[in-house]
Amino acid sequence: MSIAEAPKPPAVQKLEEYNSFDPDLMECPFQYWKQLREEAPVFQDPTTGMFLVSNYKMVCDVVRNPTLFSNKFGLALRNDDSPHQQKLREIASEGYEAVDTMLTADPPEHTRYRKLVNKAFSPKRVAEMDKDIERIVNEIIDGFIDKGEVELLSEFGQLLPLIVIAEQLGVPVSDRKKFRKWSDSFIAQLSMMADEDRQLQAQRDIVEFQHYFAEKLKEKAANPTDDIISDLTQVTLEDEGDPRGLNTAEQLSILQQLLVAGNETTAKSIVEGMYLLITHPDQMKAVYEDYELIPNMIEESLRMLTPTNNMYRVAMDDTELGGVKIPKGSMLMVKYGAANRDTDEFADGEEFDIRRKNARSHLAFGMGIHTCIGNSLARQEMKVAFRVLFDRTKNWRFVEGKNDFRHSPNVLLRGMEKLHLAFDKA
Ligand code: HEM
Repeated sequence: MSIAEAPKPPAVQKLEEYNSFDPDLMECPFQYWKQLREEAPVFQDPTTGMFLVSNYKMVCDVVRNPTLFSNKFGLALRNDDSPHQQKLREIASEGYEAVDTMLTADPPEHTRYRKLVNKAFSPKRVAEMDKDIERIVNEIIDGFIDKGEVELLSEFGQLLPLIVIAEQLGVPVSDRKKFRKWSDSFIAQLSMMADEDRQLQAQRDIVEFQHYFAEKLKEKAANPTDDIISDLTQVTLEDEGDPRGLNTAEQLSILQQLLVAGNETTAKSIVEGMYLLITHPDQMKAVYEDYELIPNMIEESLRMLTPTNNMYRVAMDDTELGGVKIPKGSMLMVKYGAANRDTDEFADGEEFDIRRKNARSHLAFGMGIHTCIGNSLARQEMKVAFRVLFDRTKNWRFVEGKNDFRHSPNVLLRGMEKLHLAFDKA
């Protein structure tokens, strides 16, 4: 398929007539998002009953108010009593208790977890990982450079964050395949699109992940090394009069989040960034000529093709937003991807512009207390990835006939399923 034949958006219809699980809509949501922002920035979706929040200002209002809009959506998504949910719970009972730590916790618990994890995931540690990131990027490129072709997601984008975090979690190379499988299963569990068998398999994989890392945490607690996993076994808030560390269930929940939140997001961001550059050759040329443009190019591509499309919140009380009544207990979907194209915040918001002054105001890493804890690592990985790719290769283009430009079916995470590219050595 050529780029001209790439998937097209569904016909424009009334907002209440769209089915939010329509694959065509998930594939090409931009017109729908525009309609949402302009006609009903707070809209109760008839398919899911959720309140969709799509304009920039209101998304900020929601995520800055964690007292009213809670992140304890884990419970809300898990608490149905269907036979399938019971089967999932049975499998889960063979592992460790699911605790709500960072992403799915509210203050004051969230504050404590965030402070503890910040100690393990400090900016200093990320800065120290720079050389390792560069080594890993080069090793991955070595694996495909002689072919002149690469499937950028599986042969590059997914490997980079996975190897970086695997090294920090003490996973040996021989276990990387398993590590990849667990990461995929976490994503499948979150997607809301996996069929029941896949969900059951994902739950089995998660139990396997828990037992594997429970052992590793024990080893690291006894013999700490210089990495994130060792830090997680040692951190306390003793300086604030709280000598408690993290227990195993909490450590596992945090490790799980580092995998879920860090791997596929970064992988998709790299692929979408390259796609945007190839479809905007003048801007590709400008970045090649001036690497100083790379950081803003990354921000602009996160804005334009946001991997964390949507995120959930739960209303803790009856409230009103944008004139729409929201009853206590309702699920909200904050639409980061839609808000990032809001033309009230970003002039010509549907256009890709690597020189955009306020590109970094995007919400791809969220905002407020849950702002992505891995954002500096992700930014660092992407900067090094593009710089080294540009140093070693040039003339990037789509491989004719191999791309359908389709996106993985996933409610929260948006990104292409594959991208076959050809290039020349620099
Ligand atoms: C381009 C890559 C990434 C994107 C787009 C991204 C996006 C996000 C977003 C939007 C949130 C906020 C969720 C909310 O509003 O509730 C978030 C939170 C989080 N991210 Fe990332 N992320 C990325 C990379 C990473 C990496 C590399 C890690 C760690 C290895 C990571 C770990 C986390 C964690 C643990 C949270 C929860 C923080 C909290 O609730 O306090 N992310 N991320």
